[in-house]
Amino acid sequence: MTMKKPINIGIVGTSFMGRAHSNAFRQVSQFFDLPYRPVLKAACARSAEGVRAFAEQWGYESTETDWRALVARPDIDLIDIAAPNNVHHDIAIAAAEAGKMVMCEKPLGRNAAESLEMTQAVERAGVRNMVWYNYRRVPAVTLAKQLVDEGKLGRIFHYRAKFLQDWTMSRDLPQGGTGLWRLDASVAGSGVTGDLLAHCIDTAMWINGPIAEVTAVTETFIKERKHQLTGEVAPVTIDDASLFLARFANGSLATFEATRYARGHKALYTLELNGQDASVAWDLHDLHRLQYFDHRDEGRVRGWRSVHISDGDHPYMKHWWVPGLQIGYEHSFTHQAADFLGALDSATPASPTFREAMATDLVTDAVLASARSRQWQSVAG
Ligand SMILES: NC(=O)c1ccc[n+]([C@@H]2O[C@H](COP(=O)([O-])OP(=O)(O)OC[C@H]3O[C@@H](n4cnc5c(N)ncnc54)[C@H](O)[C@@H]3O)[C@@H](O)[C@H]2O)c1
Repeated sequence: MTMKKPINIGIVGTSFMGRAHSNAFRQVSQFFDLPYRPVLKAACARSAEGVRAFAEQWGYESTETDWRALVARPDIDLIDIAAPNNVHHDIAIAAAEAGKMVMCEKPLGRNAAESLEMTQAVERAGVRNMVWYNYRRVPAVTLAKQLVDEGKLGRIFHYRAKFLQDWTMSRDLPQGGTGLWRLDASVAGSGVTGDLLAHCIDTAMWINGPIAEVTAVTETFIKERKHQLTGEVAPVTIDDASLFLARFANGSLATFEATRYARGHKALYTLELNGQDASVAWDLHDLHRLQYFDHRDEGRVRGWRSVHISDGDHPYMKHWWVPGLQIGYEHSFTHQAADFLGALDSATPASPTFREAMATDLVTDAVLASARSRQWQSVAG
């Protein structure tokens, strides 16, 4: 065991992602032998009562109700942004200027212009930074990336991704405010394009390289909803569904689809790659399996293999239980925290940095521009 140096965490946001990140910070030192140990120093959210209850539940030493006060504290080393998209930009830049490391939820900014300013701020300050694209760290997805990197699939022809949900189909669902800020474009930036497709695009470019051009169609099925904060019925300006075709720089072709109107699907993230020699497919509802087809197998036994990703030689798995016992969604965040802390003393920071994550926002900007123009759109580089 190495001597672990403490990293004092100040987290902003105490709901879904606040819990996912706090769980990761609490678990990571127990399961991974790292040079650094996260210390749950302070939690920040706007409600004093709510944030105190959260701090008590998760073991944070102190609370703040204003993120500016949190960023100003000399005893905080790292600001972790687990709050809605409209506050990512200002918190990240203030944290960088105060010399703090910054971890930020996705999408980095509400658009690529915000992401660029955030990226410039962390690079100017020379502080370590990362965006929580956690699906890269699902062991089966990491294995898919390794197989592609090793050339097992051969030349890639196709990439196919979907992220399907159905939770906004009711007309009575309001937009805006707690829990429903995702339906308010002024807070979220966009609808499913920035929320769901951002994950698909990040994973896709990590595995299959840059996306060169896109052509997209989006739709807002329910045009007006009551706003939770004002009580007024207001136009809905997010995209409820977003579909696009893409051409990767390596010449492969792709389809991407995200919607919150796929009745029966709660969070069905699927991806598939088809290569010259082999294909892989993965499904979030069965996240510990990777489907693999290898055309080089002997014909009589050739077929799709469903590989249970739970062995010691599978990515991350030697840190958990014994072969055959699987892990879940929350572990992807623990893996990301482990990779971030494990790379702090290395010249190469853990990925995706802000700059790497900005590449996704350049694609989502191009998707939204193409949906407006009804033209193919090159991705700005
Ligand atoms: N990586 C993933 O898979 C994943 C999943 C869900 C959400 N996200 C991202 O995480 C972020 C948060 O999403 P969520 O689902 O946890 O949202 P949420 O609505 O569940 O929680 C948001 C939290 O931020 C707090 N907050 C809001 N404004 C604040 C402010 N000005 N100052 C301090 N605290 C503030 C709220 O009190 C709440 O605790 C978003 O950027 C979202 O896109 C990522």
